[in-house]
Amino acid sequence: MLPPWQPGAHIELHLPSGRKRPYSLCGDPADRYRYRIAVRRIAGGQGGSAEVHDALADGMRVAVAGPRNAFPFAAEASVLFIAGGIGITPILPMAREAARRGLDFRLVHTGRSRGSMPFAAELAELAAAAPGRVSVRPDDESRAPEAADLLSSCPAAGAAYCCGPAPMIDGVRRAFGGSRASALHFERFAPAPITDGRPFELQLGDTGRVLPVPCDRSALDVLHEALPDLPFSCRQGFCGTCRVRVAHGQVDHRDRRLTATERAAGAMLPCVSRAPEGERLVLEV
Ligand code: FES
Repeated sequence: MLPPWQPGAHIELHLPSGRKRPYSLCGDPADRYRYRIAVRRIAGGQGGSAEVHDALADGMRVAVAGPRNAFPFAAEASVLFIAGGIGITPILPMAREAARRGLDFRLVHTGRSRGSMPFAAELAELAAAAPGRVSVRPDDESRAPEAADLLSSCPAAGAAYCCGPAPMIDGVRRAFGGSRASALHFERFAPAPITDGRPFELQLGDTGRVLPVPCDRSALDVLHEALPDLPFSCRQGFCGTCRVRVAHGQVDHRDRRLTATERAAGAMLPCVSRAPEGERLVLEV
């Protein structure tokens, strides 16, 4: 039997190339013999989704880590689920759980077009079982909904759960204060845009090679160009895969993973952490 999981959990896929990528579990937690994920191919991405589509075939063995849950569902009495595109993957098991428990829930699924939106049949099934609670809103059938519009279907004092593209999540976060939702939980499937970065430098160990990190790029992105084999997974500072060691320099830690002891020993997660303006971090790589 597979390790148990709760709605909102993900597994980390270890791909044949060595890439590691997290994907939300979107099947049935009661099924202990199968994990189900859904992977949308990201054109121009960093190769993980393309590898899943092009290199994995039926019957291949793939290592996974987890499940882990960074987006737990607290099963509040009234809930609004907002999912954009493939962001439906963690939301689907949550909504099924809400229906199973008889919670007062609403689910809104948005996307570019009906044909591009996954799990249409399963959402239709959920809508049939929970009339009036599920709505599918493709952008090409009516105007793309504003965040305040999405939040307006939240039951009074309900909790909102949101997963989707960065502009959707950022819009919902901004509109949350003016809504009647009482709490907001969200999960990104891409890193948050860097809004308060300052330029700094990375030095690759004793080679003396120095890489400038501009204000709008992560240290990981810059490092990855010089060291393509540097592993990473979540790119959001919670999995720890991209850890490097800093021999010298002051780090501006922005992760949710490292302990104070690890930081004091020089650990840094370059997917999110940076350095003060003009600082040079000497890495042991
Ligand atoms: S890639 Fe997950 S912490 Fe950096």
